[in-house]
Amino acid sequence: MRVCYVVAMVAEAKPFIERYGIKEVEGFFAPLPCRLYEGEVKGMTLNVVLNGQQNGSDLVGCEAATVATLSAIQRLKPDLIINSGTCGAFRANGAGIADVFIGNGVMFHDRRVPGDDAWGTQSLGNYAVWEGSQALAEALGLKMGKVTTGSSLDMQPCDLDMIQRHGGELKDMEGAAVGFVCSLLHTPILYVKSVTDLCDGGAETFEEFSRNLGKACEALKVANEQVIDYLTGQIRVV
Ligand code: ADE
Repeated sequence: MRVCYVVAMVAEAKPFIERYGIKEVEGFFAPLPCRLYEGEVKGMTLNVVLNGQQNGSDLVGCEAATVATLSAIQRLKPDLIINSGTCGAFRANGAGIADVFIGNGVMFHDRRVPGDDAWGTQSLGNYAVWEGSQALAEALGLKMGKVTTGSSLDMQPCDLDMIQRHGGELKDMEGAAVGFVCSLLHTPILYVKSVTDLCDGGAETFEEFSRNLGKACEALKVANEQVIDYLTGQIRVV
């Protein structure tokens, strides 16, 4: 089995890469910015594909995630894509900082396209998640939530309106783009998301995100170790 993580930020992937001692395959995707790490874990091939950087900062957002996911699936042919990273969440839904969630759905929240239902439906995305997501969440005792993706870190009132109308819970900048490519190439996708900030908590988003990034990424590493143990049969479904 080959499992491929798609991750936007170095900070999100580093604790995990170091935990498994997986090594970079230099220049694998050149001239594209995405970067490949590869290793073997308990009989499973583990890939981590980072979106890459431009001018010294991580390429967050849908465009880079699309390039990374498309390249990863076409070149590596994984059995499962895991989009792992940080997100905003809502205190009103009981979320707290560094809580880790498994995605039970995925949508876009900032695509406002007028027209008939077909345009609206396509704009929202609402792609399928891996059918084993719920069993995994139950086995690991992780909460589930719907991933909602947009191109900005902040949240405008029209974003919140869309999120509330369609049940979004975990606000990120890549999930639905990764899900879109997976739907095109018939590759199952699992979401593992850790909360850095509370969208309804009143704090300034970037400040709260920066303050909690380390803690959330540590929680993400711990959860991903459990995910790997589950996928390699070390944790049994009860
Ligand atoms: N990543 C972490 N926090 C986020 C937020 N509030 N919105 C979008 N992406 C995020």
